[in-house]
Amino acid sequence: MSEREKNWQVIGNLPVEGRLWLAPLAGITIPAVRRFFREMGASLTHTEMVSSSGLLMKNRKTIDMLKNSEKEDPLVLQLFAGDAKSLLQSAEIAMSKGVFSAFSVNMACPVPKVRKRGAGAQLLYKRDLAAEMVRELKKSGLPVWPKIRKHPSGGGPETFSFCEALFEAGADLVCLHGRTPQELYGGVADKDVVKASAGLFPGKIAASGDVFERQDAEEYLEAGAVAVLVARGALRDPFIFSEAVAPAAPLERALFLVRLGDQIEQENGPRASTSLIKRFVSGMFKGMRGNAAYRKEVALSSDWTEMRKRLCACIHYFLERGYGDA
Ligand SMILES: Cc1cc2nc3c(=O)[nH]c(=O)nc-3n(C[C@H](O)[C@H](O)[C@H](O)COP(=O)(O)O)c2cc1C
Repeated sequence: MSEREKNWQVIGNLPVEGRLWLAPLAGITIPAVRRFFREMGASLTHTEMVSSSGLLMKNRKTIDMLKNSEKEDPLVLQLFAGDAKSLLQSAEIAMSKGVFSAFSVNMACPVPKVRKRGAGAQLLYKRDLAAEMVRELKKSGLPVWPKIRKHPSGGGPETFSFCEALFEAGADLVCLHGRTPQELYGGVADKDVVKASAGLFPGKIAASGDVFERQDAEEYLEAGAVAVLVARGALRDPFIFSEAVAPAAPLERALFLVRLGDQIEQENGPRASTSLIKRFVSGMFKGMRGNAAYRKEVALSSDWTEMRKRLCACIHYFLERGYGDA
């Protein structure tokens, strides 16, 4: 057994090296971003949510969302569907096109477009169907990890019994976000309901909701969560996954973004790199004097070539302001 493997533990029926994971983020967790966060210290990543019906209809864009590389292993593919049969069929298509370690089933997305299809958070209202979907997907042979929210009723007991139904159906892990669908992403997540679920189902709950500092993750783990999903926190501070201190030099930080942007450009085109890198600038330079103004300046770029230049010129920008802590 290698030194690395000694640190592995089996979580949700999958050997994983650590407990801090990158959450699924629609429009964001594309391959280059997932590889970036593996390098930053995330021990597992999720794809964006992928439409089962898109896969069944052989939609080119949806099929392209399955692309991945071995550098991403372990990678969890998240599917969304409104019925058990298409969920399993789409999972089989996915397995024929790429290598995935587990399936996440989206039972959390509050967006009307998804809910109208009976998928995402709509499944929180249909416990039997949600359980049937888990039972069916288990036939794929891969671990099945439903991702849910706090129950729409707002109650702990309803959330616990929903989890119980999923486990009885064979779910290997439940990823639980402590907001109801009605709460969208606002207010504060109910960490207590997540912690209580983790206590009730030891080794079976991965926590999600308001993980912005390492301390937030520690809090969930101490309460018994077996892993923690970092979502918006990864954008606000990409160094959150690593014990290592962020590099002090602005240019070093800018080069992380230039490399990431170049890879996004290669794989997804220049528009994707400008729009995504914009979302990372503030987090990458977090805590440095001049950050807000710099972010605005980078955002003015009309294309990736210009944004790249502005990023590389950051050294002048921050030096002028005598860079250091804000
Ligand atoms: C931009 C964005 C996209 C998201 N996309 C997905 C998704 O595709 N699938 C999913 O299960 N959750 C998705 N989520 C929810 C996150 O995975 C996470 O559960 C939620 O943001 C709570 O964590 P946080 O408060 O730490 O951000 C998304 C959240 C955001 C902000």
